[in-house]
Amino acid sequence: MTIEVGPTKVIDGVTLRRDPARESCFQVVDTDAQMQDWPGMSGEARREKLHRHMNNETGALEIAAKALADFPDAPWDLRMQLARQASDESRHALVLYRRLREIGGRKGEFPVANYEWGVTDMLDNLPGRLAVQNRTFEAGLIDLLGAMRNTWRAAGDATTADLLDGILADEITHVRFANRWIRRLTEEDPRILLKVALAVRFLARANAQLGPKPGMTNAAGTVITQERTAPPAVNVEDRLAAEFTEAEVLEVLNQAGFRSILPTPLKAARA
Ligand SMILES: [Fe+2]
Ligand SMILES: [Fe+2]
Repeated sequence: MTIEVGPTKVIDGVTLRRDPARESCFQVVDTDAQMQDWPGMSGEARREKLHRHMNNETGALEIAAKALADFPDAPWDLRMQLARQASDESRHALVLYRRLREIGGRKGEFPVANYEWGVTDMLDNLPGRLAVQNRTFEAGLIDLLGAMRNTWRAAGDATTADLLDGILADEITHVRFANRWIRRLTEEDPRILLKVALAVRFLARANAQLGPKPGMTNAAGTVITQERTAPPAVNVEDRLAAEFTEAEVLEVLNQAGFRSILPTPLKAARA
């Protein structure tokens, strides 16, 4: 089943879904380079990381909820998974907002972008949206959170590290149900593979056109280096838990120059 896509915007030649509504305190921008992002873990850098993540979780909630609204005929079990995901994402946004305030931040302190919504909700079919949002953006978050919780802990903030660990556990379940459903739907109807491939190609084109490039300066005055545009180290353990196959994890590892996050000491001891 496909649907009509809603209003759009054109950014640097790429057509994206127009931004979802935000409170007037937020400055909404279009690209990563227009965001503020500082290296290291200064007070400002910490608040911006939580602020950015809070808005991304709000976007994840909106994408899951919109999928429910747009595809009422999807299998009931898949709709239940999307509903649970929407509930998880709203909790994630709230705990990040609470933590942001605890460390002295506020809503609207930094620019926000709704890139994931902009790309995912250009797609007129549910398998494509699951491939882009859950299986790509949220899988990327599995890698990112695997590293970030260690960064926060090393910086002496165990409270935020624990909170990110809790979010990571939920993200694994969101990626896993998408992996299961894409597999099942393509087995039932191999033509769906084409929709998934087109969705992933659209994402790759948008990333290539709109992603930050080495040498650019972002809105915080930070020069974007080659290192900052490299794919994050791969969270192998949690990607496997999200039911990517070993071959798929190997492919992601290859793209990341075989940089991976070591298993957490607790899990390694249990293994
Ligand atoms: Fe989330
Ligand atoms: Fe999620």
